[in-house]
Amino acid sequence: MSKMKLYSGGEIPVEMHRVSIVRPIKLIPVDARLKALDAAGNCSYNLRSDEVFIDMVTDSGFNAMSDAQAGAFHVADFAYAGSDSYYKMADKIREILGKEYFLPVHQGRACENMLAKSFVKQGDLIPTNFHFCTFATQVSLCGGAVVEFLQDKGIVTGGDDGFKGDYDIEKLEKFLKETPGERIPFIRIEAGTNLIGGQPISMDNILAVSALAKKYGIKTLLDMSLAMDNIHFIKTRDEKRRNKSVREITRELADAVDIIYFSGRKLGFARGGGICMNDRDDFIRVRGFVSCFEGFPTFGGMSSAEMEVMRVGFDDTMNEDVISQGPDFIEYMVSEFIKRGVPVVTPAGGLGCHLDADRFCAHLGKKDFRAAALAAAIYVVSGVRGMERGLSSEKPEESIAPFELVRLAVPRRVYTLSHIMYVIDRVTWLYEHRDMIGAMRWEDESVEEHSFIDFLRPVDDWRERLAEEYKRAELE
Ligand SMILES: Cc1ncc(COP(=O)(O)O)c(C=O)c1O
Repeated sequence: MSKMKLYSGGEIPVEMHRVSIVRPIKLIPVDARLKALDAAGNCSYNLRSDEVFIDMVTDSGFNAMSDAQAGAFHVADFAYAGSDSYYKMADKIREILGKEYFLPVHQGRACENMLAKSFVKQGDLIPTNFHFCTFATQVSLCGGAVVEFLQDKGIVTGGDDGFKGDYDIEKLEKFLKETPGERIPFIRIEAGTNLIGGQPISMDNILAVSALAKKYGIKTLLDMSLAMDNIHFIKTRDEKRRNKSVREITRELADAVDIIYFSGRKLGFARGGGICMNDRDDFIRVRGFVSCFEGFPTFGGMSSAEMEVMRVGFDDTMNEDVISQGPDFIEYMVSEFIKRGVPVVTPAGGLGCHLDADRFCAHLGKKDFRAAALAAAIYVVSGVRGMERGLSSEKPEESIAPFELVRLAVPRRVYTLSHIMYVIDRVTWLYEHRDMIGAMRWEDESVEEHSFIDFLRPVDDWRERLAEEYKRAELE
């Protein structure tokens, strides 16, 4: 555990590593930040990384490597077919997840693409605790649709339930009873649940889903992209599993399902992805698509060097000191924000600290792009890049995601507590000046379909006025 009690009272998360390779960062002046935002169409995704001081847009592919991972990078076997790096990774999957067959792909959404192509047909329905955008898209491209069964406790930004990612088991069973089995290629479990603030699902709930799936003869599919946080939460929030090791919990999770996939940009601290299972027929089926769309099945679109990094990253992930770092930093942020009255998703989840833009910008209307405006305002007053999770990326009027969030992701081992304290301070300043945050609109409102990287424009000069107020505070 990285949390240490202080002699002076309270506790802080302490980094359980020391830094040996660094990359300089710089804070460009406020006026330059306004110009950068203009060029980026007010969308944090479009900023160049050298315009960003602290990058909290995502952890994807952006977690720091351990020294052992950096070393492994240089011992890769780049053979086109039958590379040693592949066999070592497949052995690691067998050892940790207990799945016989492993297929590497270039990232998480490639797993979803291969699985949808292999199993989903026109009119299919895929139950899930909550959707993830890339998965839902791959499924719909194959003519299917996801159906969500999240319990009501997950669809609110407040509360203190430790497992807000849980399935509503009763509703799931009703659906399985009423829907012909041939229309359900698998039941998907997302552990943890990205779009509701990185909230975990409990092991008991996963076991209940798995038992139902067996009863109705349907396969289970586990998205383990965010599993390292979820496993940490099972260890720390589930009384029955407190004394189990990370390895034991991971294995219990893996044993509960038929097929596992993951973004190796998250799980494994690398840049890749993978699919694994025990059923040989499923393996052969998915392998055909991997070799067609990703690469020869022993590299599947990944560099062998990254596969070595991912293998060592799996070992690192079995260490509680490593997997607690993200959640402990996030918990620190959430508790400091609560002390300051800043609205956040509770309880603290994985992946990042999620600001509740609906409450932060309650003075703005529902269609004013509260989360996008908040993300832009945070950048103006701090140089920190967060990620809008709302109207522009989720279209809540069509989706069941009923809230607008700004995610401040915590990439693992990348930032120190002083970075985190700076972020808390500047966001608090902004909260105290929140009335200055104005609305956004699509730059081109004549276009009907938009994507989350499309340009936005402020309705007036609120960004400039906010910048002037910030300069008057003489904080830089
Ligand atoms: C739960 C979950 N599944 C799938 C993905 C897709 O992974 P990738 O970004 O590597 O394509 C992500 C990425 O954020 C995720 O959080």
